[in-house]
Parts: sequence; structure tokens; C-alpha cells
Amino acid sequence: MSDASPLDSRPLDQDSDHGAQPLPAGQMQPTELRGVRELFNIYSDLKVPVFLERDAHVPEIDTAYRFNPDVTLAILAGFTNNRRVMVQGLHGTGKSTHIEQIAARLNWPCLRVNLDGHVSRLDLVGKDAIVIRDGVQVTEFQEGIVPWSLTRPIALIFDEYDAGRPDVMFVIQRILERDGHFTLLDQNRVIRPHPQFRLFATANTVGLGNQDGLYHGTQLLNHAQIDRWNIVAKLDYLPRDEEVKIVLARVPAKDNERGQALIRAMVAVADLTRKASPMAICRA
Ligand SMILES: Nc1ncnc2c1ncn2[C@@H]1O[C@H](COP(=O)(O)OP(=O)(O)OP(=O)(O)O)[C@@H](O)[C@H]1O
Ligand SMILES: [Mg+2]
Repeated sequence: MSDASPLDSRPLDQDSDHGAQPLPAGQMQPTELRGVRELFNIYSDLKVPVFLERDAHVPEIDTAYRFNPDVTLAILAGFTNNRRVMVQGLHGTGKSTHIEQIAARLNWPCLRVNLDGHVSRLDLVGKDAIVIRDGVQVTEFQEGIVPWSLTRPIALIFDEYDAGRPDVMFVIQRILERDGHFTLLDQNRVIRPHPQFRLFATANTVGLGNQDGLYHGTQLLNHAQIDRWNIVAKLDYLPRDEEVKIVLARVPAKDNERGQALIRAMVAVADLTRKASPMAICRA
């Protein structure tokens, strides 16, 4: 089995590659419990498992990141108790980055895969490819992203899950169960998930498709599958004050009276823009 991620040789999406270094399929596991209050500044006595080493697949920590308590606790339930968690919400609310930033603080290796209507069963499961071995061309099975991740201590994030073709997404039906094994039909092989494998998804819709014209390209999802996600957490835009704090943390030079007034005005305009109905704008 190759250690290089299937994404290393053929990236599905630029966002999905966190360094593309080999990740051992070994017995890497979280070795200490740390408090949620200390890690995420959330009022809770919960303790969560943390890996001691940082692998190249662990996302970089964004020190200005502000965690939504409810969504963070839902995602942490996924990491701690091996639950499948889907985060749903409007664009730019921080769905993808919430999962990544939590993984970053738990030192949990993480792989983000953007789904789109062209991601096929072969991309996810694997396919026979012609490779050169000792100067000779041979046909060899190359694992897709699902079996590759399943055998590793990694959090696999299916980003834009509602853009994936529902018929193709059936390949993950069984691994949505906690200890669901994965059968590689092409290889007559059954894969048991690594104890630290985790699965997350983000979506703009909850599988009802593009109802209000905002999210073209999303699919009507199969509800038997949606039902298999253990937790569906909804993320909204942060309150204005929180957004102001994020901008100020990113642009400290503006942390003065004039700068703060400017940023407050910017955030207010962004808020009004989001509230404006795109359908109303189209008709005007
Ligand atoms: N809570 C937050 N704290 C700091 N920055 C944030 C927060 N939420 C979002 N951001 C920033 O906003 C940007 C958009 O976030 P992200 O890509 O996670 O949104 P999304 O909900 O996944 O959007 P989409 O639906 O378009 O995929 C990122 O640059 C991210 O760093
Ligand atoms: Mg996203």
C-alpha cells in the first residue's frame, strides 16, 4: 500500500492538499486529553483527545479564529466519539474552516476533498492504473481517497457534499456507520476503518437542492443517506461584534478608533448584503 495520498498524484482540488507528505498507516493515536475550555475558549468541562505529534496533514492554526460553541461541540463529538458530523450553513459562515481549525488544535491529520458533479466512483474507490515497475509496464490497483483515508488516522472532510452526485455518494453509505467496513469489490477486500479515522461533510443545503436559486449545482440528496449522518450542525454568520474582532485580529494596524469605526461599517454593509434577497435583486 502506498503512503502517498491519492491526492498527491492527482489533486481533486487545490484546498485538499495539506502538504502532501506521506502519512503512515501505522498506529498513530491521540495520547492526551485536553480541556475544551483551554483549547477553544468554550465554557465546558469536556476533555478531548489530542495527538502529541503534528503530521504534515495537520492544518495550520489560525490564531484569529473564533469558534461557534454549539458547532464546535458537535464537531468535537465527531472527533471524540467517532460520530459522522455534517455542518450545514450559508456560504462563508466558516463550515470548512471550523472542522479544519478544530483538527489543527487536536493535531489531527485532515484531508479536505471538494466534491463536484464530476467526482466519480473511480476517484473515490480507486482504479487500475498502468505503472512502471522495474522498467516494465504493469497494471496495478490504485486506491481512491476513501480506502486510502479509511486505513489512516485522518479526518476526511467531504466539502460541498451536496454538489456530489447522489448515485456516486452511495459508495460511502456503509462507512457512515460507526464501525462500517468498506468492501473493495474490485479487490475482493474488506477494509476495517482505522480507530482514528473520522468523516465529516459540509454543505450549503440540507439535501433539498437549489430551492431559492442561491446554490446552483447542488443536488437533491438521498434522505436515507442524510439520515445516516449522526449529527447535522447548522452554522450561521457570527454576530457583528465577533466579525469585527476577527478583522481586527487579522489587521491589527486598524485597532484604533478610526480603524474600528471603518471595520464596524464594513461588517454592517456585509451583513445588509447577506440579508438582501438575491431573487429581489434579480427582479429589480
Ligand atoms: N469563525 C471564524 N473565525 C475566523 N475566520 C473565519 C470564521 N469563519 C469563517 N472565517 C473565514 O471566512 C472565510 C470563509 O470560511 P469558510 O471557507 O470556512 O466558509 P464556508 O462556510 O466553508 O463557505 P462555503 O459555503 O463557501 O464553502 C475563511 O477565510 C475563514 O478563515
Ligand atoms: Mg466551505
